Amino acid sequence: MQKIVHPARKIKGEIQIPGDKSIFHRSIMLGSISLGTTDITHFPECADCQATIGCFQKMGIAVEKRSDRILVYGKGLRGLKAPSDVLNAGNSGTTARLLSGILAGQNFSSVISGDKSLNSRPMERIIKPLNQMGADIQSINGNGCAPLNLTPGTLHGICYDSPVASAQVKSAILLAGLYADGETSVTEPSLSRNHTELMLHNFGASIITMKHSADKKPSLSVTGKATAVIKPCGELFAQKIQIPGDISSAAYFIAAALLVPNSELLIKNVGINPTRAGFLKACQNMGANINLLNESSKAEENYADLLVKTSELNGTVIEGSLIPTLIDELPILAVMASLAEGTTVIKDADELKVKETNRIDTITANLKKMGANITPTEDGMIIEGCGHLTGATINSFLDHRIAMAFAVAALAASGETIIKDSQCVDVSYPEFFETLELITNT
Ligand code: S3P
Repeated sequence: MQKIVHPARKIKGEIQIPGDKSIFHRSIMLGSISLGTTDITHFPECADCQATIGCFQKMGIAVEKRSDRILVYGKGLRGLKAPSDVLNAGNSGTTARLLSGILAGQNFSSVISGDKSLNSRPMERIIKPLNQMGADIQSINGNGCAPLNLTPGTLHGICYDSPVASAQVKSAILLAGLYADGETSVTEPSLSRNHTELMLHNFGASIITMKHSADKKPSLSVTGKATAVIKPCGELFAQKIQIPGDISSAAYFIAAALLVPNSELLIKNVGINPTRAGFLKACQNMGANINLLNESSKAEENYADLLVKTSELNGTVIEGSLIPTLIDELPILAVMASLAEGTTVIKDADELKVKETNRIDTITANLKKMGANITPTEDGMIIEGCGHLTGATINSFLDHRIAMAFAVAALAASGETIIKDSQCVDVSYPEFFETLELITNT
C-alpha cells in the first residue's frame, strides 16, 4: 500500500495520542506475572502491542479487551504455562528482549522468533547477561539473532555493566532479576527510559535506582551513568494503570505543527517522563514554540498537554546522554533539521543502526531524495538546513518511524510525496494517517 501526501497550508486542532507503547508492553508483562487483575486504560492498539498480548496468551494468561480498558488476569510470578508453540514477537524488539528476561526465570523451555527485521537485530546484548545469570539462551541460527531457544536454569544475581544505554537490555536483566537468588544490578552509560523500574516499584518489587552524576536536578537532567538494583521477589501485585499518550507518536504531530506555517495544535495528555522527553529538549534547543500545560503525574509517570505553534527552527547538536531519551525520534528530528536554519549534528547515535532498519541509511536515502543536504557519519549524521524539501517517492523500508517522519516532511515540502509501504505504521500507530488528515488543511 502507498500513501500520497500533499503539502499542508496549516495544522490546526486538538488531538489525543494513543497510549505509550513502551509502557503498554510492560503493563501486559507485569500484569501477567503478578497476582490479581491489572486494569489498563488508554491503551494503544497496534501490531507490536498485539504481539506482546499474543505471547502471554500462549502462556495461559487471559487478556480481556473491553472498549475502554484491558484486563490482564495475572497468575503470579511462577504461574505462566509452557507455550505449545513458538512465541512470535513480530516486529517488536521490546517484546522479544523483555520477554527473554521473564522466560529466563521460568521452569520451561521456549522459543522466541519474529519477522525478518526483528530476526536480524542483535540479541547477543541480552543473551550474554542472561546466560551469565544462569539461563541457557541460544541463537538458533548461531548469528546472535532470533529465533532464540531459551532453556531456563537457576538464576543468580549479577552486577552488569552494560556497554549500551538500552532500556530493553536493562529491562530484560531486571525482569530476570525477579527470579534470581540474589540482588541484580544493571549499570548503563547514561539513563535510558525507566518505565520498567517505575512500574516494578508500583507492582511491589524491591528496586532502587542510583545516579552516578552529582547533578540532582529532577527536570530533564538524565546525564551520567545510572544503576538500577533489584532484589528477588516473592510476588508482584496487580495495578490500575492509566497510560499516558506516547511522546514518540506525538513527536510527528509536534514536528508538523512546528514546520507548517500558520499552525497551532494542542496535544492532550502526553507522557513527558524525563527519560523519554529528550525530543522536547531538542525542540527547545532548536527554538521551537511548545508550551507545556496542565502538568501532572500518575504512578510516577509525568504528563502534560502540549501547545505547539509554527516556529523558525535553528540547527542544534544532539549527542551524549540526550540520545537515549530521544532515540526513536531521530528520524523526525532529522527531517526538522533539514528544514531548519544552520547545521545540525547528530552523534553518539550508533544505536540507530540496529533499529527496525539501519536508520542512518534509511533517513539519509530518503532525505537525499527530497533534496536535503545530509552527510551520514559512523555514529549519526550532519545536516545542513536548506529550508526547503521537494516531494519525492519515499521508501519506508517497512520501518514505521521512517514512514511517519517522511509523511510529515511531505506536509512541509513542495509537490506531492508518495510513501511506499505506508501500512507499516500499523506497527505502532494504525490511526496515524487518519489523525494527520484530521488536523491538516491542504
Ligand atoms: C524501547 C527501548 C528503545 C526504543 C524502543 C523501545 C523500550 O530501544 O528504541 O523503540 O520500550 O524499552 P533500546 O532499548 O534498544 O534502546
